[in-house]
Amino acid sequence: MHTQLPLWIDTIQTAADTRQLDDLKASLMGKTGTVTLALKNLGQLSIDEKKAKGAEINAIRDALIAAFTAKFDALTTEAINKKLSAEAVDITLPTRHAVGSQNSIGRIHTLTSLMLEIKDFFYKRGFTFAEGPEVEDEWHNFDALNIPSHHPARQNHDTFYIKTDSLSNMNEEPSQLPHSHLLRTHTSTVQIRALAKEKPPLRLISFGRVYRSDDLDATHTPMFHQIEGLVLDKGIHMGHLKGLIREFCSTLFGVSNVPVRFRPSFFPFTEPSAEVDIACSRKDGKLMIGEGGDWLELLGCGMVHPNVLTNCGVDPAEYQGFAFGIGLERLCMLKNGIIDIRQCYEGDDAWLKHFGSFSF
Ligand code: PHE
Repeated sequence: MHTQLPLWIDTIQTAADTRQLDDLKASLMGKTGTVTLALKNLGQLSIDEKKAKGAEINAIRDALIAAFTAKFDALTTEAINKKLSAEAVDITLPTRHAVGSQNSIGRIHTLTSLMLEIKDFFYKRGFTFAEGPEVEDEWHNFDALNIPSHHPARQNHDTFYIKTDSLSNMNEEPSQLPHSHLLRTHTSTVQIRALAKEKPPLRLISFGRVYRSDDLDATHTPMFHQIEGLVLDKGIHMGHLKGLIREFCSTLFGVSNVPVRFRPSFFPFTEPSAEVDIACSRKDGKLMIGEGGDWLELLGCGMVHPNVLTNCGVDPAEYQGFAFGIGLERLCMLKNGIIDIRQCYEGDDAWLKHFGSFSF
């Protein structure tokens, strides 16, 4: 059989296309191919013959596989190159859509327009914008916010920690600084950053990306956006928080006196803490916000914990206030009836056209 090998190899190397190559492969190595049958027939030979013949056929098979793979790669590359040069496009030509038609104009992404709408609401009420970095340290993300070291949110599987040796200008041994930097898990970090610069009275709002080691499914992504609010002044109480949130919900959903409910909850950085639900109902599979007997969770909030104020050098006996945190995608999904959060980031043209807007 080895005498035929050079001929086979030659036929492989001169095959005109992949179809010819596939036929050749089947005739040699398919179920009833020459080489396959030769391997099968080994069983009828004596042990010594089997050893010698077996080694020979296996070597032939390996040589054939190598030749087939090389020729297949060469033919595919050749086909791709041919196709590319045949289909070359002149990207300087104008598109088929008339210039200036709606199809050729970009739109504001629904997340962006919602963000602008929310900003507008708070700016009109005297809030200013505050910012913080996405790569944070444990102090701003956890400790200063009264989150103890044993809190589950601090574990590796919930938070994206950054290896210290991947950050420049660090002299310390990485092992001495475990977990010192991370991707912020919430925008509450901005409360701490702002209080390092400004002292109360203050009203601020912040927006940005946050990261959690979550699954990727219809309602979770490892990155999403939050809106954070903080109000500190003398004599601020829960009533102020409730009034503001009620007004916010009514404005956002365009329903006056929208029913909202404050459900007791827990956050280490607020006391008392609450989650806010908005009334809703489902009619014919459609979600109606602002009416009905069901409730949908909207945001987390509470009165700023005295420990947080003390950590930031503010006297809790003098200044009090509230904070709230809203998930932007969640709000956007509720408002627009979007059922899969991943669509927000996929950049699908039809989706962007449908949910995008020309103004907010
Ligand atoms: N930081 C909280 C979260 O990410 C939300 C929150 C912000 C709650 C401010 C209370 C006050 O879930």
